[in-house]
Amino acid sequence: MIVVRPARRDDLARLVEIENAAFEGDRLSRASLARYLRSPAAAMLVATADAAVVGYALIGWRRGARTASLYSIAVDAQAGGRGAGRALLIAAERAAAARGFGALTLEVRADNARAIALYEKLGYARFGAIPDYYEDGATACRFRKALEPA
Ligand SMILES: CC(C)(COP(=O)(O)OP(=O)(O)OC[C@H]1O[C@@H](n2cnc3c(N)ncnc32)[C@H](O)[C@@H]1OP(=O)(O)O)[C@@H](O)C(=O)NCCC(=O)NCCS
Repeated sequence: MIVVRPARRDDLARLVEIENAAFEGDRLSRASLARYLRSPAAAMLVATADAAVVGYALIGWRRGARTASLYSIAVDAQAGGRGAGRALLIAAERAAAARGFGALTLEVRADNARAIALYEKLGYARFGAIPDYYEDGATACRFRKALEPA
């Protein structure tokens, strides 16, 4: 069973492993992940299966903003396809709504069909694209979802 909980500082090593395995470029460094873990302008959630951390989602926001952003979401490939990504995204939406944000936005590589399928299934709508967004020059698609007030 997948259980989502707030990340703790002692999850850092596992977060680094998941990040490095999930992304070939544009990775969050260990220092960035550590910073987000203690940031008052971010919330990190982890998905666990049998108490082992199998994925994470990170949301963040700017001061005064009405919209929060999904900075990153990743699930260990071995644990993929079992609902952890969906559970993390739903928990991230709840975490954003609980902080009063009216919407969640995100950027995703235009060629990341798997992630885009997940976002569309959960009701995200594409509202733009940013050419040359990633380190390798790939285009980002921007998605947005209005959140139900908590
Ligand atoms: C995208 C990602 C987070 C999805 O996590 P996951 O735990 O595998 O996702 P889930 O099991 O919750 O599946 C959710 C949806 O993803 C899609 N999906 C899952 N496995 C898939 C597969 N093998 N092939 C294609 N789509 C798949 C399906 O649309 C699925 O919906 P369904 O369960 O109704 O069929 C994960 O694949 C991942 O970490 N990828 C690498 C990092 C990444 O690309 N992050 C997104 C950056 S914006």
